Amino acid sequence: MPDFFCTVGFGLNDFAVLELEALPTVTVKKTLTGKVFFQSDCNAASLLALKTVERIFVNVIHDEVEPNLINDLDDWLTNKLCSKSSSLDDSLLTWKEFAKKTSDDPVKFRINARLSGIFRKSSLFQRVSSLAGSIFQQNSSLVKDLHKPDLEVFLHLNDNFFTVGLQLTKKPLSDRCYLDHIAVRSTVCVAMCMAVGLSSDDVLLDPMCGAATILVEAVKQFDCKAAVGVDCDLLQLKLAQANLNTSLSYPRIELVCGDSRIIFLKQQQFDVVLCDVPFGRKFGVPTEIHRLLTSIVNTIDAVLKPKGRIGILISEKLRQSLIDLCPPCWSLVKQHPLRLGTLPAYIVTWQK
Ligand SMILES: C[S@@+](CC[C@H](N)C(=O)[O-])C[C@H]1O[C@@H](n2cnc3c(N)ncnc32)[C@H](O)[C@@H]1O
Repeated sequence: MPDFFCTVGFGLNDFAVLELEALPTVTVKKTLTGKVFFQSDCNAASLLALKTVERIFVNVIHDEVEPNLINDLDDWLTNKLCSKSSSLDDSLLTWKEFAKKTSDDPVKFRINARLSGIFRKSSLFQRVSSLAGSIFQQNSSLVKDLHKPDLEVFLHLNDNFFTVGLQLTKKPLSDRCYLDHIAVRSTVCVAMCMAVGLSSDDVLLDPMCGAATILVEAVKQFDCKAAVGVDCDLLQLKLAQANLNTSLSYPRIELVCGDSRIIFLKQQQFDVVLCDVPFGRKFGVPTEIHRLLTSIVNTIDAVLKPKGRIGILISEKLRQSLIDLCPPCWSLVKQHPLRLGTLPAYIVTWQK
């Protein structure tokens, strides 16, 4: 079975593994921060439909790095890359199947090198990229083309591992063509839906829906029965409406302009509430955000059915305060740490 790896956002490894393990012929081999390695005989469509991953690569090399390698880097890389030329041929065949190229098509490539840890030096970047580029060109039918490549060869060298992969798609899988405005990364929205086990039986509320990214992902990827999005900002609701139009999810999502600190929706009507609460950066004093969180929790409690599920995306800083103010009838299910850009955050889930 061909070897692959995918890149995932910080904290989303477990979700990517769950998705991969649900596919019929996938064996997950190893997970590292930001990467999941697996073998698969799946067709291209099922791999390219993964919802929590950033990019997928055919794996060419994944080896441990030797201590003090920096002193002997060129020779070590040359040996590694030359000794893997037969595995490069096999990987290239797999890549061509995905890219729908015939086996005789010439493939233009460029190296996309990422050096981190002790190797993170601009002088090394140029050297490693051109060394790897020349070796690939000599040992395969690949042709270098920096400007219009068919294939990006991803090369990652850090203090622990040397990894090389052939990128399967030009755009990241996380780019959703049906979203015009992205407020929360689509992969994080999907992780929130997975964290509460969202299904086609569920009626969902996002009481602070912003551009409705979570709601659109819930409808498109989880087929949720119906959804309501509330926001107090008309400009946000305009973005949400644009997302609903582009994604054609408007028949199932209702947008409401309102203040979710006040309970104005029918009580006990939702199976699931998902919410990405403001992180407090726009709030002057901490008591203000705490007051907002208290009111939102009261609203969620009122509109959620008994046994309903809740998933809240919250900054690490506010997480404990939120947990402390939740009513005793909510049992805490799980806390998933992740990062939004560089900001540490959590998806916290409860069941009522
Ligand atoms: C971080 S954004 C939400 C992004 C959203 N989850 C998405 O998927 O696009 C937070 C939103 O909460 C809204 N908001 C803040 N206070 C609110 C309140 N009291 N009632 C309703 N919405 C509120 C803001 O207008 C903002 O759009």
